[in-house]
Amino acid sequence: MKTKGKLEIILTEKEISSRVKELARAISNDYQGKSFIMVGILKGAFVFMADLVRHIKGDISCDFLGVSSYGALTKSTGVVKITSDLTLPIKDRDVLVVEDILDTGLTLKYLLENLSSRNPTSLKLCVLLRKDIPETRDFHVDYLGFTVPNRFLVGYGLDYQERYRHLPYIAAIQLDESLESQG
Ligand code: IMP
Ligand code: MG
Repeated sequence: MKTKGKLEIILTEKEISSRVKELARAISNDYQGKSFIMVGILKGAFVFMADLVRHIKGDISCDFLGVSSYGALTKSTGVVKITSDLTLPIKDRDVLVVEDILDTGLTLKYLLENLSSRNPTSLKLCVLLRKDIPETRDFHVDYLGFTVPNRFLVGYGLDYQERYRHLPYIAAIQLDESLESQG
């Protein structure tokens, strides 16, 4: 299926990179002297996670949780399927979840409940982007990169139908409404 998409840059490579370094500094400070597990949520967080971990000072292990959410092309339904589970046990460990974007919050709500049932010592959340919508204003995020407009975004790990993940910047994509409603 083709998109007649147009991209409008929302965050440049440089803006992202300097914010990622700031987040890494805050995380390194807070976890000083602790060993902890960083859990990247696939696929979207793979670029962010790769950049973030390279600026963390401390004793970390990396793991990944693969999820897919069912539903329309661009709307989350809250029905989340774990497609690939963690390889490390997280019981009695300090865990930091790394996610690309908080939209409705349904995906993260499900995942945090799932991870917390495995009894980690602590469970914190680092999210690169939070959409500026009232519904998730109260959703607690420990480390937040940016608040972004409520538009559909691609790049830096984010996809539209599995495309655009490789872009080094984050852009809003103009979607053809007729394609969206076919989801
Ligand atoms: P939520 O469950 O609505 O918070 O959606 C979270 C998931 O939906 C993210 O992990 C992304 O994979 C995807 N998502 C939400 N908004 C966007 C977007 O603007 N672009 C690309 N993917 C998105
Ligand atoms: Mg996605």
